[in-house]
Amino acid sequence: MRILVLGGTVFLSRAVATAALALGHTVTCVSRGVSGAPPVGAEALTADRSRSGALAAAVRGRTFDAVVDVATMSAPWVREALDALDGRYGHWTFVSSVNVYADLSRRGGTVGQATLAPRHDDPGAAPPSERDPDVYGAAKVGSEQAVHERAGDRAHVVRGGLMCGHGDPHDRYGYWANRFARGGRVVVPDSPAQPMQVVDVDDLAAWVVARAEAGTTGTHDGTGPRSTLDRVLAATAEAVGADDLELVRVPGETLRAQDVAIWAGPRSLPLWLPETLWGIADRDVTATVAAGLETRPLAVTARAALAWERELGLDRGRGAGLTAAEERAVLAAHTGG
Ligand SMILES: NC(=O)c1ccc[n+]([C@@H]2O[C@H](COP(=O)([O-])OP(=O)(O)OC[C@H]3O[C@@H](n4cnc5c(N)ncnc54)[C@H](OP(=O)(O)O)[C@@H]3O)[C@@H](O)[C@H]2O)c1
Repeated sequence: MRILVLGGTVFLSRAVATAALALGHTVTCVSRGVSGAPPVGAEALTADRSRSGALAAAVRGRTFDAVVDVATMSAPWVREALDALDGRYGHWTFVSSVNVYADLSRRGGTVGQATLAPRHDDPGAAPPSERDPDVYGAAKVGSEQAVHERAGDRAHVVRGGLMCGHGDPHDRYGYWANRFARGGRVVVPDSPAQPMQVVDVDDLAAWVVARAEAGTTGTHDGTGPRSTLDRVLAATAEAVGADDLELVRVPGETLRAQDVAIWAGPRSLPLWLPETLWGIADRDVTATVAAGLETRPLAVTARAALAWERELGLDRGRGAGLTAAEERAVLAAHTGG
């Protein structure tokens, strides 16, 4: 198949391009060319989607059997891509997010659950910030709507959950692989009931390609088996933890008193969620599994995440997690030291 990947140089979209190449497909990737190169063997086209008409010029006159779009925040980019290809594709995958759901506290939800109201920014408007989960979710709903309107019976919408593994630019799950490998006393949230659900980026990518090959349509949550944060952290520790690793469970009230943030970002404990958001990490993926998503053991993902962390540098400044000094302060507050 001739597959067009809108992206192809970062994490999931790069993994999609890699998986497609491994299966013998002809792959074209379109990006600005600022985040890196697509995998060897893929054709690289350059276009800045924030410039109206740029993507259309890059793909003019071309036809593809399948297109995979990962546009994060911009419904106008998604609309413009669909219009630029103007039906010259057999199948269209849009990578959305489990953030689309209106009630992020609801556990065990399926894709039929109500979504946020769609957000439609003006063409040419700068994509809004990804930091606000509602804005992110609403932009994804707007994008999904554009895909359904234009690609209709050729569209597969994949609502991704937390993606982990090699190439992760978000520093979230990687924080734990990195931190556990460095050993010693590690602050973890004392939140035994918190659900957690992750998917290895390569598993998700392989499934996206397989679904495109099969012409699968409709909407799926693209995430792995239901688990708990405790089990995810324990399996990660078991796979990559140093011999002297000790997990120190710190209650939420202590963490909040120490200004430790949830989920991601500076001074955070990545993947820690308040109950109001537990639904994003507890999707019922029965339909996804039935549609063929196979997931590897978390230990394999943990080792891939650690390998990537080593490539980036274990001691680098990071976008998510606690610094060594912040962690010491939390430990001191916890033990009264
Ligand atoms: N990570 C997660 O845990 C998670 C969870 C749920 C859903 N998702 C979704 O999964 C997808 C992840 O995609 P990804 O891993 O490939 O990373 P990404 O950061 O969303 O994709 C970036 C790709 O788009 C290209 N790009 C960025 N700005 C561009 C522009 N102005 N014009 C043209 N190309 C541009 C980048 O290359 P250049 O920078 O070189 O242009 C890169 O190839 C997203 O849709 C995200 O919302 C992710």
